[in-house]
Formats: sequence, C-alpha cells, structure tokens
Amino acid sequence: MSSDLSPIDKAKFVAAKRAAEFVEDGMRVGLGTGSTAAWLVRCLGEMVRDEGLKIRGVPTSTRTAQLAREVGIEVISLDEAKWLDLTIDGADEFDGELNLIKGGGGALLQEKIVATASDQMIVIADIGKEVEHLGTFPLPIEVIPFGWQTTQALVEETLISMDVLGRTSTLRMNGDHPFVTDEGNHILDLHLGRIGNPRQLALVINQMPGVVENGLFIDICDVVVIGHGDGKVTVRDINQGTTATERIDFVESDNLFSDLSD
Ligand code: A5P
Repeated sequence: MSSDLSPIDKAKFVAAKRAAEFVEDGMRVGLGTGSTAAWLVRCLGEMVRDEGLKIRGVPTSTRTAQLAREVGIEVISLDEAKWLDLTIDGADEFDGELNLIKGGGGALLQEKIVATASDQMIVIADIGKEVEHLGTFPLPIEVIPFGWQTTQALVEETLISMDVLGRTSTLRMNGDHPFVTDEGNHILDLHLGRIGNPRQLALVINQMPGVVENGLFIDICDVVVIGHGDGKVTVRDINQGTTATERIDFVESDNLFSDLSD
C-alpha cells in the first residue's frame, strides 16, 4: 500500500500522479521507461479503468509496452500515431534549463525519438535528480555492436577536446554479456563528472560513426514535475517561467500498489 512506500518511491509516485493530470481524453501519449515512468503508466491505467479516459499510448521500450497493455492502455506504434500530444518520461539528471541525461534504463534511443515527436515533453523525477551541472550520472550513448571498441576509443579521444572532467567509458553489461538495447545495440556509459557544454557535447558525439544516439536531451523537455518524499510536488514550466509547489493526496488503491516492481 502507499503508506509502505519508501520516501523515494513516494516522490516518484507523486510526480507521476501529478503529471497524469496533464493527460486529456483523446491524446496520443508517449510513455517513458524506468521506475518513475512505470508509476505514470499505472496511474494512467487506473484513469482508463476508473474514469473512462481514452488515450492511445506509444511506449518507449518493450518493458513499458508490456506494462501499458497489462494496465489496459491502448498501445500503438509511433508510426501509427505519427505525432504525439504529450510524452511523459523519467530522467537520470535534469539541470536548471531542463536539459537532461537519460538512458540509465537503456531506452534512450526510442525515448528521444518519441519525445522529439511530441508537442510537449514532461519529465517526472524525484528531487534527487536535480543537478546544477549535468554529468555526475554517467552519460549513456548507444553504439552499434560492429566495431564498438573502435567507436569507444574514438569517443574517448574526442572527449580530450571537450569541456568535461572525466574521459573514461565502460561498456554496459547485463551479467556476463554486453547489454543489448531494444534496437540490438550496445550502451557505452561515459564517466564525465561534469559536462561544461552539454549542447556542444551532444552534437559532437552524434557525429561519430558507430554512435547511434546520446542520452543528452537538449531543449526537448518543457516541464519537470519534481516529487518530494513528503508527498509534495513542484511543477516547473521552462517556457512559461513558472514554478509551483503543491501536495498530492494519496488514494489507497490495491490495483495501483499491488505490483511495485518496475
Ligand atoms: C530509461 O532509459 C531512462 O532514460 C529513464 O527514464 C531514467 O533512467 C529514469 O529512470 P528511473 O525513473 O527508474 O530513475
């Protein structure tokens, strides 16, 4: 039940619950990936079941697609939707300009394609994700398996001329094997410490052959809904320049809290 949630899960849940209020009947909604986005999908599923909300969801991973179907959300592909009204997703870090690091869950490629094809992107995150400078969280980049070590060497060499503190990278693993994304690629995590110029870094990394996409989301996010462990949420809108804090009431719901796994 909700009262058993840890402060961090409470923070994720209230952020998701508040963000779900942005979703209106008839919308085509991009559904993010990760533990915070999973709360959002559960909240939307509850609205579909209990309030008759009619939406079509475009998931950003096979995991999210499965959960969305389980909770009763109609799932369509991005090409069926063509364009989305809104995408709601988690993030690994966000800064004051609402630039993001994403990809901790390995779904950055679909997440970026879906968010970019949306009128609006809302990020849901616990307060611990807010940073002054991006880069403490390792920056994921998706690379094709062919020649990945050569790509890694090229990336590390290029980082020498970039405004970053660290320049090492590691291949993301899944047990004894390289992690494989939904698109069949690998992930390199770049340990940068601090990214001085995220916009420049995003452009430079994407110019390298072998790199499919990077986890920097620049000028994509419009609104961040920040959850706090005490049940408060802060909604910050970068376009309107507004910030508002409110409290979200928990409504005990067996359906919503029965499965706490991501
Ligand atoms: C998935 O690839 C990521 O971009 C997630 O959105 C990000 O890692 C946030 O995940 P959590 O909500 O689980 O922290």
